[in-house]
Amino acid sequence: MQKIILDLDTGIDDTLAIAYALGSPEVELIGITATYGNVTLEQGMRNDLAITDLFGHSQVPVYPGLSHASTKDSFTVLSGSAFIHGKNGIGDVEIPDSARSAESENAVDFIIDAAHRYGEELTYVATGPLTNIAAAIAKEPDIKNEIGKIVIMGGALTVSGNVAPWREANISQDPEAANALFTSGAQVTMVGLDVTLQTLLTTEETQQWRDLHTAAGDFLSDMTDYYIRAYAKTSPKFGGCGLHDPLAVGVAIDPTLVKTLPINLKVDTEDPTRGRTIGDKDKLNDPHKTTQVAIGIDVNRFLSEFMSRISALAKGKR
Ligand code: RIB
Ligand code: CA
Repeated sequence: MQKIILDLDTGIDDTLAIAYALGSPEVELIGITATYGNVTLEQGMRNDLAITDLFGHSQVPVYPGLSHASTKDSFTVLSGSAFIHGKNGIGDVEIPDSARSAESENAVDFIIDAAHRYGEELTYVATGPLTNIAAAIAKEPDIKNEIGKIVIMGGALTVSGNVAPWREANISQDPEAANALFTSGAQVTMVGLDVTLQTLLTTEETQQWRDLHTAAGDFLSDMTDYYIRAYAKTSPKFGGCGLHDPLAVGVAIDPTLVKTLPINLKVDTEDPTRGRTIGDKDKLNDPHKTTQVAIGIDVNRFLSEFMSRISALAKGKR
């Protein structure tokens, strides 16, 4: 069975990514590596432990990652984050703290150990800043050829960004780390705003979770409704919330959900376009492309997979 690591800044859509992975019989979630972004590293770990408990999967270990960007020495949550994800990252819904603690091994070493141990069988999915994976590759460069699949949610190639016209939130947090990953030679699939903003969830779907009358169903519906309300204010034209992070998990499990463009990608690290994901002109004629950027998506098939997998989990069937 495919082993999967999720690297998360947990966050509402990161929580939906956990639910998608746990609801998928094809994969075993062998660990969550925590990062900063929507919330602090500590809040993210608290959420990861509490959420996996609530979903009945307290076997999933959580590893502390790096607490700030590779070029900084601290991190402060952006002021807009609480509006989108709630102060606690999960729509201000209260769920019990876990009795468990995070592991003593750090995320970077866990990623390296898992790459050596599982090789091709290992899929690594990042849905926050790319600080942990960049640090792991810098420490042990061979892992870039050992890990079976690297899928990231981040970036925007054919549409504008969500932090600035040229900058998506996850890449924007640590452009140097993202650039290091894309130019490392590792094969990476980028699931960016090009496709994630085509996958929209509404209160019609969250009502289906509420109707299950389970603790997991109530949590998922209350939390996701917070996110839908934020989208209704910031992006009323969408008519729902973007399923950014669960789509990255969906693509990791079934790459046929998207159409991809092979390209040698880089991230601008200098102003005025710092944080932009763009093709590397110097490698334009290199026939060996290292990034697959998702630019088309089978929306209906993804939404149907999303609902059936997460509903099965919320019913306690997975
Ligand atoms: O741009 C969307 C991404 O930013 C998602 O991963 C969301 O959780 C936030 O981190
Ligand atoms: Ca995220």
